[in-house]
Amino acid sequence: MILVTGATGNIGPALLRELHAAGVGPLRALTRDAARAVLPDGVEAVEGDFADPTSLKPALEGVRSLFLLSRLGSDAEILETARQAGVEHIVLVSSITVQTHPHLGPAAENLEVERLLKASGMAWTILRPTQFASNSVMWADAIRGHETVRAPYAETALPTLHPGDIAAVARVALTEPGHHGRTYALTGPEPVTARQQVEAIATALGREVPFAEISREQAHAQMAAVFGPEAADAVLDVTGGDVNPELLMVRDTVAQVTGAPARPFHQWASENVDAFR
Ligand SMILES: NC(=O)c1ccc[n+]([C@@H]2O[C@H](COP(=O)([O-])OP(=O)(O)OC[C@H]3O[C@@H](n4cnc5c(N)ncnc54)[C@H](OP(=O)(O)O)[C@@H]3O)[C@@H](O)[C@H]2O)c1
Repeated sequence: MILVTGATGNIGPALLRELHAAGVGPLRALTRDAARAVLPDGVEAVEGDFADPTSLKPALEGVRSLFLLSRLGSDAEILETARQAGVEHIVLVSSITVQTHPHLGPAAENLEVERLLKASGMAWTILRPTQFASNSVMWADAIRGHETVRAPYAETALPTLHPGDIAAVARVALTEPGHHGRTYALTGPEPVTARQQVEAIATALGREVPFAEISREQAHAQMAAVFGPEAADAVLDVTGGDVNPELLMVRDTVAQVTGAPARPFHQWASENVDAFR
């Protein structure tokens, strides 16, 4: 039995579809609300909340392989609950900031989750993705309302990653030999700026989308209201304020692990154009 967490998020649905199409099973999906979850055929939805690790016990019953998103609850307790349930292998979604910005709070937290997993006695595969293409959904309200998209660091080009490629790497790591004890830094196939992302969404929509660069201070004021000032600073650093060659680097890990090239941002934009209509 494989349990996929984040089953209704950016990676989980693609991972479940890939596993199901490959005939892998049985599959189980974790969600906090099974009534709302839309899942591929043949996938059992089980409720559980990372905020209460004991609530994960029913979902973990009989599970041997676990796809786990980090930092959505008490990771130490989640890992221990999984170990006690008999999980043998965990594929963990950490972050590339562990190696590019280890001094930042969220990166240090991810590094600690990685350390706990490695010390747990369970087999592990660690995925360290860069910024997801799906983060651009944060502009959906403005685009739907025909307003100007406003973003900082408009010309910083990052190798933005299609979440489907994280799913593809996870599927291989969960189902094929040779991936235990491996850490994979994952990026998209080319650097893309915020301005270019908005242009790709505009092309997919078939109309112009106005774009304006805003200052770090303006962006911080908006983000701090939602995430708090420290998290806002961390996001702003890793999306333009304090980038470094390690973060900007395009890697071929997706192709090496899956045998297929990583998908460009414009592909994500055309596949998800309805989110912006
Ligand atoms: N976004 C990025 O650029 C980026 C970059 C590097 C690493 N990461 C990491 O990648 C992972 C996914 O990030 P994302 O932004 O794309 O998130 P996401 O997949 O959109 O996360 C939402 C998913 O997580 C589940 N979830 C949220 N809180 C939960 C809880 N308390 N208990 C159980 N399930 C819960 C939701 O399930 P239900 O609502 O159905 O319960 C939903 O399926 C995270 O670990 C993040 O730290 C993200």
